[in-house]
Amino acid sequence: MFKEITSQQLNPEKFTQDKVKEIKELVGNGTAINALSGGVDSSTVTMLGHKALGKQLKTVFIENGLMRQGEPERVVSLFRQLGITVEIIDARKEFFTALQGITDPEEKREAITQTFYRDVFGRIIKQSGAKHLLQGTILTDVDETIAGIKRQHNVFEQLGIDPQEAFGYRIIEPLIQLRKDGVRKVGMALGLPTEIFQRIPFPGPALSARVIGEVTPERIETVRKATAVVENILKDTNAFQYLAILHLDRVTGMRDGRRDFGQQIEIRCWNSLDARTATPTPLSFEILEKLSAEVIQEVPGVVSVTYNITPKPPSTIEAV
Ligand code: XMP
Repeated sequence: MFKEITSQQLNPEKFTQDKVKEIKELVGNGTAINALSGGVDSSTVTMLGHKALGKQLKTVFIENGLMRQGEPERVVSLFRQLGITVEIIDARKEFFTALQGITDPEEKREAITQTFYRDVFGRIIKQSGAKHLLQGTILTDVDETIAGIKRQHNVFEQLGIDPQEAFGYRIIEPLIQLRKDGVRKVGMALGLPTEIFQRIPFPGPALSARVIGEVTPERIETVRKATAVVENILKDTNAFQYLAILHLDRVTGMRDGRRDFGQQIEIRCWNSLDARTATPTPLSFEILEKLSAEVIQEVPGVVSVTYNITPKPPSTIEAV
């Protein structure tokens, strides 16, 4: 078992040196793939991987149809400025097909996991001849999976699943001893721009972790629009994470003087250090009203906006 390195213990330069050495040894003169989502963890792994492997590493962005507005283009252009080429792989159809008809949260997570690891990476790895996948799993992902709270999409060996047997490749996880605050320190030391290493966390299952009930392209579009509004209004709060959730229940509302049996968006905004526990941010009523007005205006079909005031635990940060 690996040992936690707390953010206080961490020496980012030494950590980087050690991990670069480890990655080099594991990959040898073969090639590796790494999937970049643009979040803090995968961006940091991308930087580490390129430092260790250079041209032996191929970086891909999986366009699963579940990402935030403008994300694929944004990630590609940001990394181009850092000298790293990112190839976009269009897998939208595969993900939406796999998610069709599923409403149970853990089944949804499992469908995402299988589509990512078995189908999409399995294919890319086969086509490229790579033997290793580099990814940004962190300690919090492992903890919650082992504790049976949530099956994080990227955790295998700790559940007794051998990726080599299950998917045909090895997984390298250089950040597994760290938590979010530690990853940010390493990302900064590796020269990631502030807008990446200070970015709020975003889950692997992406917006599907924020859709209660079935995930369809239409329902994702609704939560995507609401997410854009929430992220824009709350960006200066310094909160750990903020998000929008699409509920399954409909409620009676009215629009232009007519009955509108519409959808509900829940907003969450968290204070937290490492995502293990979290408390809702005491937002001013003025900000809450602004959020409501803008979500109603920008997101078709929504007639109700609520704010979550429950801490984690018993809540969790995402809804699914
Ligand atoms: P929860 O919802 O479990 O989230 O309180 C804790 C933190 O982890 C993020 N999260 C994930 N990250 N894969 C990830 O890489 C996942 O499957 C996943 N699920 C949740 C979440 O955004 C929060 O920061």
